[in-house]
Formats: sequence, structure tokens, C-alpha cells
Amino acid sequence: MSHIRSHIMVCTGTGCTSSDSPKLITAFEEELKLEGMDQEVRVVKTGCFGLCAMGPIVMVFPEGACYTRVTVDDVHEIVAEHIVKGRIVTRLLHMEGEAGQSVTSLSDTQFYKHQLRIALRNCGVINPESIDEYIGMDGYTALERILTLVRRQRENQVEIKEVEDGWKVTLTITDIGSDLLSLTIFMPTRKECEAIRRRFLNDPMLTYKGVFALLTGDTQTVGELVESQQDLFND
Ligand code: FES
Repeated sequence: MSHIRSHIMVCTGTGCTSSDSPKLITAFEEELKLEGMDQEVRVVKTGCFGLCAMGPIVMVFPEGACYTRVTVDDVHEIVAEHIVKGRIVTRLLHMEGEAGQSVTSLSDTQFYKHQLRIALRNCGVINPESIDEYIGMDGYTALERILTLVRRQRENQVEIKEVEDGWKVTLTITDIGSDLLSLTIFMPTRKECEAIRRRFLNDPMLTYKGVFALLTGDTQTVGELVESQQDLFND
């Protein structure tokens, strides 16, 4: 298995593409092959970094060096100096201020210093065409959370109904289409039903285990479950 030690991120946003960034990708790949490093350095296309006027932009990780206005003629030097010898090519770094000081990383530029990127936070950091890289940066976690919540709500249900002389609360746990537990309890007040709802939804499987242990006479498990839930019962 190959071990990737560096990533060369080449912007292929509209601005950089119009300044020939796709040619940089080919040039980097060829240069790396010549150096015998094509298995340990990955060249990645990225979306727009936001510094279009300074394009084509090339970032090299793990150092995070941000090279601006890179041309095909610069590719050999970046590979020979930065990739092979670990020396950042300072003449290609972004320059700022009256003295024209070089800024190594993108986050240190005046343009980015005061920005908090939210939707675009991964832009330039991952390959926009790789779903694995997006997932590696916690992509889709919001979707995962909401689907888990919806699934839980579907699988674990509480129904509270008023009856002639009080209330009935029905607890249901469903798994793979069939009911694991369906339990209806009579309660004198709605308040007690709400307390049961809260405790049940907090950990439906605890209820299942508890009922199972009680009905099978497993007193040790019943004791352990009650012990582990003291905080819950003290509320
Ligand atoms: S298109 Fe490359 S930085 Fe915007």
C-alpha cells in the first residue's frame, strides 16, 4: 500500500482554469513521475480558493504553502525544492504589505484572516470530486444525525391516551418491521405518563432490558439497571 506524504492542491476554479491550471496538473504529474515520487505525492484538483486574481493557485500540504501565479515553468522548482528537499519556494508565495512580505499559508493572508468560512471551509482542502474525502472531513454528519433521529422516532414510540378514570401510556419498540416491545400501562395522571415518556425515550433499550429481566426473574440485571439509572429516577 502506498503512503501519501504530500498533497499538491491545484485550483481548477474558473479563474485559475482560464489561467491554464489544468496544464499545471499534467506538469506536476509528469515531474513527480520523473522523480519517482508519483506514488507518494498526490496531485489534487480543487475548487476556487477565493484568491482568483492571484491564480493559478497551488497549495502544498502538509506545510500548507500557498503558491500564487504559478506557471508550468515553476513546476520543476516546486517539485525539486519543496517536494524533494522540503524547502518552500518563497519567491512563489503570496506577497502582502508594503514591504511585500511573503505569507506562507492561506489563512495568514489579509483576505482570509478576518473570514470564517462555513459552507466553503473545505474548499481547497479536499478534492471536491471525492466523496470519501468529504466524508473524511465529517461531511454528511448532519444528514446522518437527522436520519438517526427520524429512525429512532419511528422505532420508539410513546402514545398517551386519556381513558375514563385516568391515562394509558403505550410504549413501543420496533425493530426490522416487528414489535420488540409493546407495553400499555395505566397511570392515574398525565404527569406520570410524561415522566414515563421522557425516561423511555432517553434509553428505550433500557426499558426493554428491564421488562425482559423482570419477566424472566433476572433480579441481578434488574438491580443493576436501577442502580445505573439512579440519576434519572431522582429527577
Ligand atoms: S479560481 Fe482559483 S482561486 Fe478562484
